[in-house]
Amino acid sequence: MNSPRSNEALLSDIVAKRLSRRKLLKNAAFLAAVQVVGSRLLLASSPKSAGKIPKSSLTFPEIQRGRDEKLHVAKGYEAQTLLRWGDPLHADSPPFSPLKQNADDQRRQFGYNCDYVGFLPLPFGSRNSGHGLLGVNHEYTTLHNMQPGRTKKPTVDGKGVSKEEFDIELAAQGFSVVEIKRENGRWKTVLDSPHNRRIDMGKSRLEIRGPARGHPRMQSKTDDSQGCEVIGTFSNCAGGMTPWGTFLSAEENFQDYFYGVSKDPREERNQLRHEINKDDYYYRQFDSRFDAAKDPREANRFGWVVEIDPYQPDKPAVKRTALGRFRHEAANCVINSDGRVVVYSGDDQKGEYLYRFVTAGRFDPKSRAANLNLLDEGELSVARFDADGGLCWLPLVFGQGPLNKANGFSSQADVVIEARSAADFLGATRMDRPEDVEVNPVTGLVYVVLTNNSRRGVDFPLDAANPREKNPHGHILELHAPISKGHRDHAAGKMHWDMFIRAGDPQNPQHGADYQESLVSDSGWLSCPDNVAFDGRGRLWIATDGAKHSADGVYACDTQGPGRALTKLFMRSPRGAEVCGPCFTPDDTTFFCAIQHPGVGKEFHFAQPSTRWPDFEDGMPTRPSVVAITRKDGGIVGD
Ligand code: FEO
Ligand code: CA
Ligand code: CA
Repeated sequence: MNSPRSNEALLSDIVAKRLSRRKLLKNAAFLAAVQVVGSRLLLASSPKSAGKIPKSSLTFPEIQRGRDEKLHVAKGYEAQTLLRWGDPLHADSPPFSPLKQNADDQRRQFGYNCDYVGFLPLPFGSRNSGHGLLGVNHEYTTLHNMQPGRTKKPTVDGKGVSKEEFDIELAAQGFSVVEIKRENGRWKTVLDSPHNRRIDMGKSRLEIRGPARGHPRMQSKTDDSQGCEVIGTFSNCAGGMTPWGTFLSAEENFQDYFYGVSKDPREERNQLRHEINKDDYYYRQFDSRFDAAKDPREANRFGWVVEIDPYQPDKPAVKRTALGRFRHEAANCVINSDGRVVVYSGDDQKGEYLYRFVTAGRFDPKSRAANLNLLDEGELSVARFDADGGLCWLPLVFGQGPLNKANGFSSQADVVIEARSAADFLGATRMDRPEDVEVNPVTGLVYVVLTNNSRRGVDFPLDAANPREKNPHGHILELHAPISKGHRDHAAGKMHWDMFIRAGDPQNPQHGADYQESLVSDSGWLSCPDNVAFDGRGRLWIATDGAKHSADGVYACDTQGPGRALTKLFMRSPRGAEVCGPCFTPDDTTFFCAIQHPGVGKEFHFAQPSTRWPDFEDGMPTRPSVVAITRKDGGIVGD
């Protein structure tokens, strides 16, 4: 079945409409620099403003950009490596033995390639910032960086890979819950905690809830004929926390592990839309559930937001299908003024969409139990960014508009399983890889991080919200929900959007960068923003992935006042790594982040990493780790 693609506005219309907006003057420098040559954009001059020296509320001395084997953090701060791949999670967990790994050990140890990091205080409901539960995603594995003797990624035929190695890969992905405590200024793990657990891809059983629960398209030949349970979660990228104290873990690049095309035309459309026809990985050689030609429904059980209750360690994690199936990067919540909970989530692929979910029920601050299944009912919608600065949320509701039988949708289960195809029919805007989406706790404005898109202006037309050809540096949009009775209404059908940062070097006219007239330094400009966090003062902390001019790092800026968008480099990662999962304790005295895939690169492997961070011991592989950054004087990070 075919799917229409969206947003084919002419560039001339876009520029004309955009110029009419209230921010004409601010954008004039950039738009004047754009010369239309055929369908291509050329950038002719820099948008950098002159004379104004804004002042940031962030007082840390900026570090210098660069790239080396170590992690660097601003003077006056220290970084403690808290949890490394292979660290024990239980008092009786085996110690990490890189030369003698097995899957059972891995299931009792911290997993690989940590991404999302969330902190929930103990006891539940407190703001305790010295004791709590850390929730961490383990996004993916790279066998040649993990296993001795390996030098390259395995080929798709699985040649030379042992069953034990396959099992280790599944065991090292998923999620960790770890109790942590701060004593004498240092964080430590509490190994005898009943809360500590792994939810992995190999053995954990998860519940399926929401509109797709029990639907025939969710019934797997392999392990669940009812469509109500699934073995495992993987590709867990970023995430979020709910107001009732659970973690949300976003399944992102699940498609890499499934391969094949079904003869059922409906599943074929679904598979092609998710690129399951691309042969990337060998898993199907060991487990037929990854063979999407034989069992096309198994892949429908991945690509969801997973909810984990860390306060109830025996409770299975739940896949919340009402939030739609796509390559979820993250899932961030805000309580609307009417009590409904709104979740924003991006689909991280070039040209994919931004989504929103609004619960039907209302958050009950007095009853945790009453909130635990709030994410099962509500309205999913997808964003259309208009050239005049308007934003329209288009409901993904079965029976409304084109989401009907004629177009392959027979129920809401079909709509959520094929959320991408449904969004195509509605004419949503194809974005430059939506990564994190977070709500500023002070202003209620929403920040949408678009990391980059080499296909913009090539396969997807330029548009006002994605205005740069090939967009190598990415940008951040700011969404303004309308104000109703003094509060931002995140459930509104219409909003406005604005450009917050066009990343890149503002000194380089080719980049077309814009930091809101802020004079960012040579170290302070950023590229490829990915995950973000807000501190309690509403300042934005931006982690990057894939910067070319420097090691990836964390940049911070105000969102209001004279330091608005004035990004400063706070820390940078060791060679090869991206920084993920920034998050704060409730009192903002600890900043956690994940260092993912340190030491990797084309020519690097287990025996020859580009850094041996964090252990720097011969024979010890480089280890993805969670880091806790604190001020040496114990004060608030950033102040
Ligand atoms: Fe797993 Fe979009 O980063
Ligand atoms: Ca990411
Ligand atoms: Ca985030």
